[in-house]
Amino acid sequence: MLPQPPRGTSPMTGHGITEDRSAGTRVTRARLAGLRRRRLHAGRNVTKAIVDLVELDGRDIVIKDVAARPWPVRVWLGPWQLDREVRAYGRLVGVPGVPRFLGRVDRQAIAVEFVPGGDLASARRGTLPAVFFDLLDGLVGRLHERGVAHGDLHRHDVISGPAGQPYVVDFSTAVVTGPACGPLTRLLFRHMRDADRRSVAKLRHRFLPDLPGTVPERRGLYRLGSALKRALGRTRRGRAGRRGPS
Ligand SMILES: Nc1ncnc2c1ncn2[C@@H]1O[C@H](COP(=O)(O)OP(=O)(O)OP(=O)(O)O)[C@@H](O)[C@H]1O
Ligand SMILES: [Mg+2]
Repeated sequence: MLPQPPRGTSPMTGHGITEDRSAGTRVTRARLAGLRRRRLHAGRNVTKAIVDLVELDGRDIVIKDVAARPWPVRVWLGPWQLDREVRAYGRLVGVPGVPRFLGRVDRQAIAVEFVPGGDLASARRGTLPAVFFDLLDGLVGRLHERGVAHGDLHRHDVISGPAGQPYVVDFSTAVVTGPACGPLTRLLFRHMRDADRRSVAKLRHRFLPDLPGTVPERRGLYRLGSALKRALGRTRRGRAGRRGPS
């Protein structure tokens, strides 16, 4: 991992978010073409982005890309999910524990700061201290203060950073709320926020099963969402199943 340059000045991307151009000029497909990529995640299925690590101008960046997916995903579903992610990153600028958003490559891809360390799916039980989960609790609280609920926080989306501090990635399912939002968005936000807290408690329990701590009950809409997710998860696992339960 090469040293990170300081934060740069930031033209607007057209998505209401400030783009970080500290790497130099904008991250474009032309600049990415021909660069060596290391696959971080092939995507659980064809509706998901391909996630690659690329070294651009001496800096490691993550490219999340749906360009190689079938046309409904490439043209519609993928850009819609990336829009959600961009919107969330826009709200979370400057929050420690959230990687820097580096730009929208095009409708099909985004670039994000790479966080070295590995996600919790590759961490063994007993290797993370309780304070990691205290910090994660605090980080998730800060996301909520900014009006962002992650909504699907599992062990693949939490990274133990270079100094052992938690990072959260993957805001494709995030709900972003604010004073101008309608009652449905606010309701969804509240449920997703509860789901996030529950996810952190579950992760804590998974990694520190011997320490006291309770996992809050699922509530309201989230119970329904979880039932749907379980049903979908069963279908997915039946087909391919790269990942186990979170
Ligand atoms: N900024 C980052 N730094 C380091 N690793 C990352 C970063 N972003 C993503 N990853 C890694 O790539 C994986 C996939 O990324 P991400 O979760 O954003 O994709 P996804 O297609 O939305 O995944 P899924 O829907 O399966 O959760 C993550 O689980 C994490 O291991
Ligand atoms: Mg993810």
